[in-house]
Amino acid sequence: MSNNVNNFDNVTKLNLANLPTPVHRLDKISEEWGVDLWFKRDDYTGVETSGNKIRKLEYTIAKALSGKAGVVITCGEIQSNHCRATAAVAAKAGIKSHLVLRIDEQPLLEGNYLLDKILGAEITFISREDYSYRRGEIMAEIARDYEAKGISSYVIPEGASDGTGNFGYIEAVKEIVNQEKELGVSFDAIVCAVGSGGTYSGLFLGSKIYGPDKKVYGFNVCDDEEYFLNICERIANDTVKTLGSDIEVKRDEMNIIDGYKRLGYAISKDEELAFITEVARKEGVIFFEKFIYFSNVDNCVILSNKGK
Ligand SMILES: Cc1ncc(COP(=O)(O)O)c(C=O)c1O
Repeated sequence: MSNNVNNFDNVTKLNLANLPTPVHRLDKISEEWGVDLWFKRDDYTGVETSGNKIRKLEYTIAKALSGKAGVVITCGEIQSNHCRATAAVAAKAGIKSHLVLRIDEQPLLEGNYLLDKILGAEITFISREDYSYRRGEIMAEIARDYEAKGISSYVIPEGASDGTGNFGYIEAVKEIVNQEKELGVSFDAIVCAVGSGGTYSGLFLGSKIYGPDKKVYGFNVCDDEEYFLNICERIANDTVKTLGSDIEVKRDEMNIIDGYKRLGYAISKDEELAFITEVARKEGVIFFEKFIYFSNVDNCVILSNKGK
């Protein structure tokens, strides 16, 4: 490893997730498809904070607390898991959360939105259009309002996907490499969904640091390859700068696989439902984290083992 990663241990972190998450093989599907496919169950990280969000928030909220923030402000869709997880972690940390949620109509009080309220989050609704073009500005305005009241704020971007959140999935690769040793296997590919970029970007950097033999593939659930290459390159470089490392981030080494976007929020394609059903019936695993909607790749990091 030629990269300087000496500063990694000095990055502040909270320990909130149940780690390491289990890794298990999909025996029947592997046999049938002639591959060696494993799931890393990041849906086991916790309940209120479940899924991939918490790994990023362990670093993000730690940073907010070290800056003495009294409120964290973040954004997402009305049923955003990231927003619900942020509200839960903020409650546990004893600070306020303020969520900027994307919705055009008056929402029903259900799902994550209901949990956000139970967890005590302040909520601002904004339209789809404002979300696309002005969410940063709107969060900055809210931050200024808190500052005017003497409450120090910390703004978390969508999905906590930034140079800080990245550390969560860098660390996940270290965890995977340890599990390989315990299991006596060697994974050659790691596959994840890409919704805001931080999971992919962290796994990409993590594989450079801890598992340079692995390729990382991301399936974007929205937008397109170019959009996510730009985000992942930018936030990976931010992390590298924080580390003071000589890791080179090359976007042509990133593998964002376009063409598998979901049809829309809470709308599933027939082949997605068929795939979820197949995995459930053959492996006993419900292949989605969100009961609100299905997307093409969800709830697990998928590993494939070149050893067999
Ligand atoms: C289970 C799961 N994996 C991956 C992703 C994508 O993560 P990111 O937002 O970091 O791109 C999501 C996002 O919603 C998710 O729920």
